[in-house]
Amino acid sequence: MLNWDDEAPVAAEKAPVLQTVDSAIAGSNVDTSQRVNAADKRIINAKTDVNQLVPFKYKWAWDKYLAGCANHWMPQEINMQRDIELWKSPNGLTEDERRVIKRNLGFFVTADSLAANNIVLGTYRHITAPECRQYLLRQAFEEAIHTHAYQYIVESLGLDEGEIFNAYNEIPSIRDKDQFLIPFIDVLTDPTFRTGTLEADQTLLRSLIVFACLMEGLFFYVGFTQILALGRQNKMTGAAEQYQYILRDESMHCNFGIDLINTIKMENPQLWTPAFREEIKSLFSRAVELEYRYAEDTMPRGVLGLNAPMFKGYLRFIANRRAQQIGLDALFPQEENPFPWMSEMIDLKKERNFFETRVIEYQTGGALSWD
Ligand SMILES: [Fe+2]
Ligand SMILES: [Fe+2]
Repeated sequence: MLNWDDEAPVAAEKAPVLQTVDSAIAGSNVDTSQRVNAADKRIINAKTDVNQLVPFKYKWAWDKYLAGCANHWMPQEINMQRDIELWKSPNGLTEDERRVIKRNLGFFVTADSLAANNIVLGTYRHITAPECRQYLLRQAFEEAIHTHAYQYIVESLGLDEGEIFNAYNEIPSIRDKDQFLIPFIDVLTDPTFRTGTLEADQTLLRSLIVFACLMEGLFFYVGFTQILALGRQNKMTGAAEQYQYILRDESMHCNFGIDLINTIKMENPQLWTPAFREEIKSLFSRAVELEYRYAEDTMPRGVLGLNAPMFKGYLRFIANRRAQQIGLDALFPQEENPFPWMSEMIDLKKERNFFETRVIEYQTGGALSWD
């Protein structure tokens, strides 16, 4: 209660008036029925107001939003000069290494636009927890930064833009991965799609699993490993540093997606039927097959100490891990990780500049000038 005593020397006589003023200020005439109770929030199909970020219920989503902001970086911070010299030097790279780089960019230059569209035009509007929406907004910007980074590499090396940006139409191993993904994006971006029935909620959950576990969690990994292997051999170190930052972001996107999936499962256990689980398992197998074909196409021979068969084991190892992260049994017999150094890359702190190519510091708001 507000205390009006200082302004009301004859409090007893003025009591009725004071009561009115007091009640209005205290809010007894205000409709508070729309105030959100954290307990009522749901990841999908919530009845609560999506514009009220707090009270928090899904603290894990807010924490990931803060972590994403703390990891902010921009592509132009990284010096590409050594990459440009190496690419232009006739004997700087083998033909197989050049193929790896072009195929790699051919997949990634459009992949992150698909990811951004999926978030902005699809997923976002079906998610009713504002803390999760806040993370998705951050993630969408990170996807824009990733597309920018790939474009920046293409431009720095003077590659044929038409060839690289059309690889997802023209190179079968890339096209097949994208054609596998696109129906799962399209269903969420369809303006007539609404959640709220068992079938529709399973459709959303299926798309979220494909996106987090198979696109960000599997389809990126042959490409990331190849470019980081180049960097470990002191080649294309600028590109490799860009990919390191992207890998760190993507592993957070994947972890957020998995938390989102598991929370939806917990809140809606009826969605996780035996038939649905079988369907997800077959999608996992198909994705491993497609990514393996991409590995074979990008590495027709051994290159950089890597070869396609090594990736057969690696992709199965990753698929097992993703399956277990969403509560499915491992799909393949015990597989070992043939690239343990990749795990260290994922845990990179920005302060640790692995390839030592970074040249400028990110400017914070304090550096703004209005002159
Ligand atoms: Fe991305
Ligand atoms: Fe992503």
